[in-house]
Amino acid sequence: MSSYQEEVISVKLVKMRIDILTLFPEMIENALSFSIPSRAQKADKVEIKAHNLRQWGIDSHGNVDDSPYGGGPGMILRVDVANKALEAVDPDHKAFRIMLSPDGDQFNQSQAKELSEKEHIVILCGRYEGFDARIDKYIDQKVSIGNYVLSGGELAALVITDAVVRLIPGVLGNEESLTHETFENDVTDFPQYTRPDTFDDQTVPEVLKSGHHAEIQKWRQSQQKPLNQG
Ligand SMILES: C[S@@+](CC[C@H](N)C(=O)[O-])C[C@H]1O[C@@H](n2cnc3c(N)ncnc32)[C@H](O)[C@@H]1O
Repeated sequence: MSSYQEEVISVKLVKMRIDILTLFPEMIENALSFSIPSRAQKADKVEIKAHNLRQWGIDSHGNVDDSPYGGGPGMILRVDVANKALEAVDPDHKAFRIMLSPDGDQFNQSQAKELSEKEHIVILCGRYEGFDARIDKYIDQKVSIGNYVLSGGELAALVITDAVVRLIPGVLGNEESLTHETFENDVTDFPQYTRPDTFDDQTVPEVLKSGHHAEIQKWRQSQQKPLNQG
């Protein structure tokens, strides 16, 4: 077998799978049916499934939560339901299991890269008042997308999925676009321009129209600003 054939087979073997456990699967499915995530699924680079947590509910009504011990407002996702859902999509705990929580580790581009190399990720979305604390034992990491409180984990799951999927090799049409993006090499992307040449009193920098590739590259590098990943 040639090394090319081996490479093709290994690329096929590592097709990523992302399972998202949620009370609102339609939110996930609709949002991922556009643009790059949709293309990635059609190109068989990733399989993304949104599962309704109610199918693992405790009764015929699909109840998944209950009021907190000790009193207080809102409903808490039950540990038995969460565990059943996790076991159903990842029976041997081979996947990387994420629980979305505003007090989790802050998601960033380096984590997106790490996750893009995994074969299987499971993302557990909370709603209402959040999770029974005992669920922590069955997940690998609590992740937050920022220091604010959302109504539910679905938008956070979409943010993470989108950031991860576009980093899977072969997903973006032009691999070049990854090499100069913001956060690559800890610098910002460079400014870009297109037609018209002049708008209001703003004109496109002359060097970009010069056709001198070395000069253009030098100018672009000079425009990239250092940044610190939070
Ligand atoms: C209303 S929030 C629960 C907030 C929780 N009572 C607290 O104060 O931390 C409901 C769910 O939304 C998700 N969520 C809210 N903010 C988030 C954030 N910044 N990052 C990730 N997930 C978030 C989590 O899954 C959370 O369980």
